[in-house]
Amino acid sequence: MNIKDANLSATFFEDEEPEKFIELKIFGKIYQVPSEFSLLKSFQYVAETYKDYQINLTKHCWSGICKNCLCKFQDEQLGKAKGLACLMDTDESIELIQIPRTMKKLTKKEDR
Ligand code: FES
Repeated sequence: MNIKDANLSATFFEDEEPEKFIELKIFGKIYQVPSEFSLLKSFQYVAETYKDYQINLTKHCWSGICKNCLCKFQDEQLGKAKGLACLMDTDESIELIQIPRTMKKLTKKEDR
């Protein structure tokens, strides 16, 4: 199956029952996400669950090659840093201050 043909948004999390949630902070807003997710998968979860963001997953390699998941965050110990969300664990000690270029904040007027 071509990745573009896959329905990644509606059913991606239906069969998964997260046991534990942690907090992910994006631009000061806290979201509850499953603790075992990579940061990129948490972005997808936030987009599908909270509908505050939209993310184009067809642009991601999920393996550190394309760099489309590059984000900037504030870490409690490291300060400001950049990282590839597909290679990072979701961490409660960071706050996202720049999201990947494939991710877009939705406003109330936009179609969801
Ligand atoms: S998704 Fe391609 S580098 Fe992270």
